[in-house]
Amino acid sequence: DQTAVRRDRFSGGPARSFLSSLADDERIFAADLAVDRAHVVMLAEQDIVDADTAGEILAALDDVEDAGHGALPEGEDVHEAIESAVIDHVGPDGGKMHTARSRNDEVAACIRYRLRSDVLELVERLVGAREQLLDVARAESETVMPGYTHLQPAQPTTVAHWVLSYEQALQRDTARLLDAYERINQNPLGAAAFAGTPFDVDRERTAELLGFDSVAENSMDASASRDFLVETTSAVAALATTLSQLAEDVVVMASKGHVALDDDYASTSSIMPQKKNPDTLELVRGRAGDATAGLNGLLTNLKGQPRAYNRDLQRAGRHAWDAIDSATESVAVAAGAVATADWPAETLEAAATEGFATATGVADLLAMAGVPFRTAHEVVAEVAADLDADQDAPDYEVLSAVAEDVMGDPLGEYVDREAVERALDPAESVAMRDSRGGPAPAAVADGLDAA
Ligand code: ARG
Repeated sequence: DQTAVRRDRFSGGPARSFLSSLADDERIFAADLAVDRAHVVMLAEQDIVDADTAGEILAALDDVEDAGHGALPEGEDVHEAIESAVIDHVGPDGGKMHTARSRNDEVAACIRYRLRSDVLELVERLVGAREQLLDVARAESETVMPGYTHLQPAQPTTVAHWVLSYEQALQRDTARLLDAYERINQNPLGAAAFAGTPFDVDRERTAELLGFDSVAENSMDASASRDFLVETTSAVAALATTLSQLAEDVVVMASKGHVALDDDYASTSSIMPQKKNPDTLELVRGRAGDATAGLNGLLTNLKGQPRAYNRDLQRAGRHAWDAIDSATESVAVAAGAVATADWPAETLEAAATEGFATATGVADLLAMAGVPFRTAHEVVAEVAADLDADQDAPDYEVLSAVAEDVMGDPLGEYVDREAVERALDPAESVAMRDSRGGPAPAAVADGLDAA
């Protein structure tokens, strides 16, 4: 029979399993059935295949679906195996299914079809994760915490402001995925090997049947290009990087007792009984490597490929699948860990005074009284340099003396003691910074509304 002939002629040698992607192709098994069905319906509608034969092929495809990927006959890939199974059911006429197409446009359609639902699944998870982060922001809008730059105490902020910063980043990560989605969702079918077909195919019709928004126009581009995988994997890598940064923050906070993770998101040590480790977040951080590896692997796979189709492409999809699977799991775990964590308000507020983190607020106060900011900075910097190692804020008298020294007038000429004391209080310091997007609870409330 023809199938046997084809099998004998090609992949019988020692490279047989090397050539085969059948196992990997389980990922696109359902997609291939959908693509086959759409193609066969279109062939019948265009009178390229008669309706009876098309009906028999469609019935055979149902049987193939019921039997599942595991029941497929041997083949170089899922496309060939499904075709063989159809021919086994229908007889030689089953071979009409492959009229006016190639595995090249077929596999491109399968990858796009499957990736589309994977991207939507990831976007759905992201939306859920963002809602969880917004709940944390709502609950912790008054919870003062230390903010850092260079991992050094910098300025007081709030848990809400911190968490909202990640929600905003995840908004953009979501938008990048949806942007990539538009270009994923184009129909390559009808491109055949790369050079089109003499049959009167209706490419808009298969696009419609498969839910593609448009047709990938040029047939050579349609079968050869995988940049839709590049931009999707790149968006996933950006997302995984955001998640990794969030995870790193929480790992550092946990090490300082600034956050208590729920047991569900912690691990212990097999030897040190006292340990509660933030392993889930370390794995989120580690998994960022899966996504960057995927992007690198994909770009490396693609970069030397000439037009049109090359078998290298059989190894392209896996990079995207690995990256997207890994990130999809990370989204839920990272958001879950943050959503269920406990933020010890007193510890955090005390920590927010460490290292004279209210210094900028004092300088701002002087500047608001008309002192040039650079001069105010100089006064406060001098005071900061003279602090004892265990001292988190200067005495008013010391500040006043330095101010007089630098500016010629006593501090009272510019600001009163009460205002300075307020600026030295982390909660007041946060409340003062009510500029748009800032940490003051009022500004965060606006951010929450917008989100
Ligand atoms: N399995 C292949 C892939 O995933 C499709 C087969 C096309 N093969 C070919 N020799 N043109 O890319």
